Amino acid sequence: MATCKDFHRRSIEQPDAFWGEQAKLIDWHQPFGKVLDYSRPPFARWFVGGETNLCYNAVDRHLKDRADQNALIFVSTETAQDRTYTFRELHAEVNRCAAVLRELGLGKGDRILIYMPMIPEAVFAMLACVRLGAIHSVVFGGFAAHSLASRIDDAKPKLMFTADAGMRGGKALLYKGIVDEAIGLSQHPPQHVVIVDRGIDTDLRRVDGRDLDYAQLREKHMSAQVPVQWLEASEPSYILYTSGTTGKPKGVQRDTGGYAVALAASMQHIYCGKPGETMFTTSDIGWVVGHSYIVYGPLIHGMASVMYEGLPVRPDPGIWWKIVADHKVTVMFSSPTAIRVLKKQDPAYLTKYGPSTLRHLFLAGEPLDEPTARWISEALGVQVIDHYWQTETGWALLSAMPGVEATPLKYGSPSFPAYGYNVKLLDEGSGKEIGANEKGVVAVVPPLPPGCMTTVWQQDERFVNTYFTSFGDQLIYTTFDWGIRDEDGYYFILGRTDDVINIAGHRLGTREIEEAVSDHPNIAEVAVVGIHDEIKGQVPMAFAIVKDASRVADAAGRRAMEKEVFDVVNKALGAVGRPARVHFVTQLPKTRSGKVLRRSIQAIAEGRDPGDLTTLDDAAGIEQIQAAVAAAS
Ligand code: PRX
Repeated sequence: MATCKDFHRRSIEQPDAFWGEQAKLIDWHQPFGKVLDYSRPPFARWFVGGETNLCYNAVDRHLKDRADQNALIFVSTETAQDRTYTFRELHAEVNRCAAVLRELGLGKGDRILIYMPMIPEAVFAMLACVRLGAIHSVVFGGFAAHSLASRIDDAKPKLMFTADAGMRGGKALLYKGIVDEAIGLSQHPPQHVVIVDRGIDTDLRRVDGRDLDYAQLREKHMSAQVPVQWLEASEPSYILYTSGTTGKPKGVQRDTGGYAVALAASMQHIYCGKPGETMFTTSDIGWVVGHSYIVYGPLIHGMASVMYEGLPVRPDPGIWWKIVADHKVTVMFSSPTAIRVLKKQDPAYLTKYGPSTLRHLFLAGEPLDEPTARWISEALGVQVIDHYWQTETGWALLSAMPGVEATPLKYGSPSFPAYGYNVKLLDEGSGKEIGANEKGVVAVVPPLPPGCMTTVWQQDERFVNTYFTSFGDQLIYTTFDWGIRDEDGYYFILGRTDDVINIAGHRLGTREIEEAVSDHPNIAEVAVVGIHDEIKGQVPMAFAIVKDASRVADAAGRRAMEKEVFDVVNKALGAVGRPARVHFVTQLPKTRSGKVLRRSIQAIAEGRDPGDLTTLDDAAGIEQIQAAVAAAS
């Protein structure tokens, strides 16, 4: 058996041979002629000329050997529903959904925006899209109308797929209402909105000619067989928006063949899943973890995937471990925040429903602190693997690879570069490689491996400028994360180099939140920073200047104004981006060139030293932040 080091070295030194072998893990309609075309750096085309299809690999190819094994296990503690689909049943549902979409005129290259709660129809819709060669853009259900509208305008979908409502903690969330609002704000409204009516919103309104009922459409196609649209490996499968430094999210574009191969390989080398077993990923389909490891990864690998609608603590904090026991889950993927939430509960719940069937618990999305890692690992008696990646990469960039070699784990470290990634730690200023135990920017020498983003949707230039120009003339991908590597080669992630914050594993740009806060007519200017939070990792905190200062002259006025700002953010961006607190000031600390000193604001808000203030224009800005924070604590 190869060591992780050899495995990694071979992937970098002999990429054609390495990835050529991995490519055998999926089915190809047409073999590829060339493993990699890197004639136009940094744009990499993997498996050139090969034809395949994600839906075929996730569903159809399993009909031969495992048609009657479970494929999708839906558990909703919100609606007290459990539904299980075998591969045969999943195939039938995906064909029905694909027939519906085809009837509505959708085909190769068309975009579909999916704005759905965590119900099986969301998975059917994603798979139906890729079956037809259409491109899905799944938007997280926690995003509100403005965010949704900007994603509609960027991708210009022909059709939107939604539901009347979702449920969270027993409360209905009216998805269709938000879709209507977003379409009202959009410059490029879709022709059709297909609605899965769960009967939760009894007041559901439909727009004649535009809005269609999924159940009625599906009825007409019960025995539909929709042929798979074969795609050249580098043709797009989906767009997934993610936040960066600007207020405008980027449409991360994913290919088809490279993504399928990358996921299939990761299921084997990283997650150690076995076909026929069950994987449980607790994310939402609206995030990259949901795309890769609720939907495509496990299904491509012939595993059943659990889709859970509900909270981790309802009806009791043992619910996840009950699901694990009920469905004999062997691979689980969750987030550090979720584990920190469970850590506050009685640990007896972890074993209340039986001993764990898990081989590994994988965590990602935000830093995993050592006490949390140790607690869950010891309490469950399973190996907890921290791994690090991004929406952009689609799968792990740093990880232990127990399917290759069982390397020792270090708490707080996502271990080593995964095969395919030529990772460097670079000095931010000089772009030179740094040594062990020195802090640098985590960077990847391109070409990026299969599965990673291929460009920003319709913005090749933005792709290059955003990700490949941080280190002068060197064409190197930046992750925008700080990291260090110890003398044993283990990496540790130290936070973002840009203005992105990570709230409970949800990535948001401070600019996006600032724009949402500024929707309030009485806000003149605002700075948002992410501050440390014991459970969520980080929470946003806003420092705002109001136009009419008399509104915030006393505590009651400030409280009322803060509440109004919360409401405005809820409506524009969604509760996910709502600041924990809004402090009112009359001046923000800025440099002489007018740049807000966010790092100093953040330091003060976290009770640290504000750092270098030599570029500060006027000390009053800093004093106001200090006073506001002191008054609140
Ligand atoms: O800052 C890093 C953090 O989350 C960012 C990526 O977030 P997102 O695009 O939502 O993708 C999540 C995919 C798992 C990274 O730039 N991050 C992710 N994983 C870790 C992490 N920070 C520390 N440790 C991790 N394991």
